[in-house]
Amino acid sequence: MTPPRKLNVLTVDWPLSQEQLFPRPAPLIVEIGFGNGDFLLRLAQTHPDCNILGLEISSQSMDKAEAKIEARGLPNVRPIHARAETALAHLLEPQSVQAFHINNPDPWFKKRHHRRRLIQRHTVDLLTSRLCPGGALHLATDVRDYAETAHALLSQTPGLTNRFDAPWLDQIAGRLPTKYELKGYREGRSAHFFCYQRNATPVAHPAIIKELDMPHLFLQSPLSAAEIVDRFKATRHHAGGAHIAVLRAYADPKRDTAVFEVVVEEPTIEQHALLLLSPRTGAGEYMVRLSAVGHARSTAGMHRAVAAVGEWVAGLDARARVLERKLRG
Ligand SMILES: C[S@@+](CC[C@H](N)C(=O)[O-])C[C@H]1O[C@@H](n2cnc3c(N)ncnc32)[C@H](O)[C@@H]1O
Repeated sequence: MTPPRKLNVLTVDWPLSQEQLFPRPAPLIVEIGFGNGDFLLRLAQTHPDCNILGLEISSQSMDKAEAKIEARGLPNVRPIHARAETALAHLLEPQSVQAFHINNPDPWFKKRHHRRRLIQRHTVDLLTSRLCPGGALHLATDVRDYAETAHALLSQTPGLTNRFDAPWLDQIAGRLPTKYELKGYREGRSAHFFCYQRNATPVAHPAIIKELDMPHLFLQSPLSAAEIVDRFKATRHHAGGAHIAVLRAYADPKRDTAVFEVVVEEPTIEQHALLLLSPRTGAGEYMVRLSAVGHARSTAGMHRAVAAVGEWVAGLDARARVLERKLRG
């Protein structure tokens, strides 16, 4: 099997299908934020009976790791370009992960970035839910303040038990130090290693957020697509926890179609997508839907984006009206 390349959270099955990524199903180990990929590769080499999944938001890191995996011909490791929070909500089923490894998550020193910290209550609860019974959460950081926050959160998580006698250890025998760990040592910082194990305490298991049916809105308008685009102004909407920005519109007068560029931000996922307005058979009838260009997934926020664009078009002329909505969320 040729290993799939440039996997993205938007292009893989929701929930994750091991068959899509690996030659055979096996216990799953996940590294979040694998950076230069060396630790990810070491996991693959030292756990040949497991499948290793890497989650990383930097596409440069993705390229580096993929080149190293290919050069070594390792079949049991696959990186996915994904925000960890998106993968936890849309890809990883409850009780499906044998171990998580998180090495030096971005500390986000600035106060306004604290809400984007990886280690926070909601994410720790999701990590706990996604662990198999007995599974382990390994965390390393060289930032003292981050270690103290992590200790406070992890030690107060009923579903997890500290495997160490101390809040953290400052060294682990036989560990492959990561690039950032070595940088920390060179700059005089010490490491803080955590290992927590999933215990038998019942915890909440938020279900995977699956993809919805494709959104459609049918409308009737006396305006052509070009006239609609002439009236376009960028707009922002906030609905049901989603922020929708309709940024630009382009018309193809020959085909009487228009394309709207949207950014849809939901708590678990951010998508940049194109919505298409195209004529239907009835006179002056149009359909608004997700364009086939790109890999947008049909989330509740994407349904709201189709509604926002369709209703805006229908509001442009007194004779226009929405005929039918196939929308959810
Ligand atoms: C400080 S670097 C550490 C890299 C590597 N683990 C090491 O120890 O050398 C943090 C890494 O996590 C990635 N990252 C940060 N936030 C992330 C998130 N929410 N989901 C996935 N990756 C993330 C960054 O792109 C970066 O590669």
